[in-house]
Amino acid sequence: MGSLLRLLWLTNLAMAQLESSSVEIITITGTTASLSGGEAPAATVPSDFEGSAIATSTLTSAISGTSSLNTTASSAQSEATYTRLVGGTRSSSVLSGNATATTSIAAPPVNTQPCNNYPELCNRKYSNITEVCAHNSPFVRQRNVASNQELTVTQQLDDGVRMLQGQAHYVNGTLYFCHTSCDLLNSGTVEDYLRTVTEWVAAHPFDVITILFGNYNWQDKDSDGNPLVTSRNFAKSIEASGLLPYIYQPPNTAMKLDDWPTLGELIISGKRVITFIDYNFNTKEVPYLLWEFYNMWETPFSPTSDNFTCEIQRPDGLAENRSREMMYMANHNLNVQISLAGLNLLIPNTAELNQTNGVNGSGSLGEMSTTCTDMWGRPPNFLLVDYYNYGSPMNGSVFEVAARANNVTYNRECCGKAASSGLNLQTPSSTYLALVVAMAAAAIL
Ligand SMILES: *[C@@H]1O[C@H](CO)[C@@H](O)[C@H](O)[C@H]1NC(C)=O
Ligand SMILES: *[C@@H]1O[C@H](CO)[C@@H](O)[C@H](O)[C@H]1NC(C)=O
Ligand SMILES: *[C@@H]1O[C@H](CO)[C@@H](O)[C@H](O)[C@H]1NC(C)=O
Ligand SMILES: *[C@@H]1O[C@H](CO)[C@@H](O)[C@H](O)[C@H]1NC(C)=O
Ligand SMILES: *[C@@H]1O[C@H](CO)[C@@H](O)[C@H](O)[C@H]1NC(C)=O
Ligand SMILES: *[C@@H]1O[C@H](CO)[C@@H](O)[C@H](O)[C@H]1NC(C)=O
Ligand SMILES: *[C@@H]1O[C@H](CO)[C@@H](O)[C@H](O)[C@H]1NC(C)=O
Ligand SMILES: *[C@@H]1O[C@H](CO)[C@@H](O)[C@H](O)[C@H]1NC(C)=O
Ligand SMILES: *[C@@H]1O[C@H](CO)[C@@H](O)[C@H](O)[C@H]1NC(C)=O
Ligand SMILES: *[C@@H]1O[C@H](CO)[C@@H](O)[C@H](O)[C@H]1NC(C)=O
Repeated sequence: MGSLLRLLWLTNLAMAQLESSSVEIITITGTTASLSGGEAPAATVPSDFEGSAIATSTLTSAISGTSSLNTTASSAQSEATYTRLVGGTRSSSVLSGNATATTSIAAPPVNTQPCNNYPELCNRKYSNITEVCAHNSPFVRQRNVASNQELTVTQQLDDGVRMLQGQAHYVNGTLYFCHTSCDLLNSGTVEDYLRTVTEWVAAHPFDVITILFGNYNWQDKDSDGNPLVTSRNFAKSIEASGLLPYIYQPPNTAMKLDDWPTLGELIISGKRVITFIDYNFNTKEVPYLLWEFYNMWETPFSPTSDNFTCEIQRPDGLAENRSREMMYMANHNLNVQISLAGLNLLIPNTAELNQTNGVNGSGSLGEMSTTCTDMWGRPPNFLLVDYYNYGSPMNGSVFEVAARANNVTYNRECCGKAASSGLNLQTPSSTYLALVVAMAAAAIL
């Protein structure tokens, strides 16, 4: 155990060192796109979208780019200090009997430390992994029809959910997670929710999670006609919750697939939380809170039919060649529409859950994952589901679907059973330990 603590200590030390270096960040001023109403408004690609494509190229070309671009320096980890968690091949020279030098290549070290539950994922880019997303993760209320999940956010993360999505409402100057109306289902403040998430993240140093904030009040204006609720409001909740030190600052506002670091790199840097907002981003003032639709697109949302299709719904007007450079999310929650207290609501169709969240069969998550993979040449990055703990042929089928997409073997117990053991450290191989030590030493020098 002593060596495990040492490993952790070194990792923390490395994180502290990384924080002190800085990197240039290219930002684009947030724009409010013209959108239509509803829970899932259609995003229109704003006029500066192509500007973001320029922003993803080199800094020099961005500076000579259009006026919608701006550059700002911000403290973030340096890419130069990234080290592969899995390591590479080493070679050593051997002087043989007849004085001929030969070179033997040592076998690559085998990493036994899981990243997001699988050692195989450590060396893969964040953009090359399929994860389960808890739709409306905070909406956990027993016997409330507006709920989307049965188990708490801590349990969601313990069970393997790695993307959390939630709709935030701005009420009395505070952001709350509420479903459609805070009178209907109020799950508390965004800050309190994020404090719980922060505790989990702190206790799980080998996990990378994603948070997608839904801004319900994206259309509201202040007395000057400016957007009332923007990523600035979310930043307040994020910073007050203690989550900020864990948030990864990407080098570009619009990250292409190849721009993303590996899970291992994120883990070693300590920046293991990626944040997105759907509307009213402002990467100039809150550079870490990325605009969702610069970085991923979504399949049709909130369908009430189980014909889950894989075409692009949001953002509207996204060029196909651009879409192939971005991550994408498969929306796979089946709803029924109800009218209640004057509100039209889409609520989860719980009767069909086993089929919807199933590994295979008509309307299943597994079927959609396969369909989308065939259509786009790679699986969805995020599988958005309601009540992730139900499915067929067994509970946990949603994680089986993700594992198949990732070409790994799902053999965990699901769901809501195994309480978090906190530090999920595997005994590291000596090679792995040596790599982390070397990495820490490099960061100190
Ligand atoms: C870039 O940002 C600086 C400082 O915030 C500001 O003074 C300048 O006008 C901005 N330039 C553009 C082109 O937006
Ligand atoms: C010495 O070198 C020759 C080729 O140059 C090789 O065939 C032979 O096996 C070597 N002998 C030893 C003992 O390594
Ligand atoms: C990850 O990369 C592998 C190898 O290129 C590819 O087969 C797989 O579809 C990719 N997965 C995702 C989610 O991008
Ligand atoms: C907002 O303030 C009003 C008036 O004080 C109060 O009735 C209401 O419950 C508050 N809403 C929330 C979500 O706290
Ligand atoms: C599902 O939707 C797609 C696209 O809208 C359509 O082409 C297809 O025929 C539909 N399939 C069924 C079974 O309704
Ligand atoms: C993407 O495709 C559009 C038309 O389909 C074309 O005008 C544009 O140049 C392409 N962009 C890139 C980066 O290939
Ligand atoms: C799912 O796959 C299993 C095993 O391949 C098969 O026995 C079963 O019939 C399939 N279920 C559906 C609904 O297609
Ligand atoms: C759904 O599947 C689970 C796990 O296989 C099972 O326990 C449950 O009874 C099923 N529910 C329905 C409504 O079929
Ligand atoms: C599946 O999960 C549900 C909800 O947690 C539970 O009621 C049911 O007993 C589970 N079924 C199995 C087979 O574990
Ligand atoms: C899936 O993983 C196995 C090893 O577990 C490997 O042999 C195979 O090439 C992988 N397939 C893909 C498509 O990456």
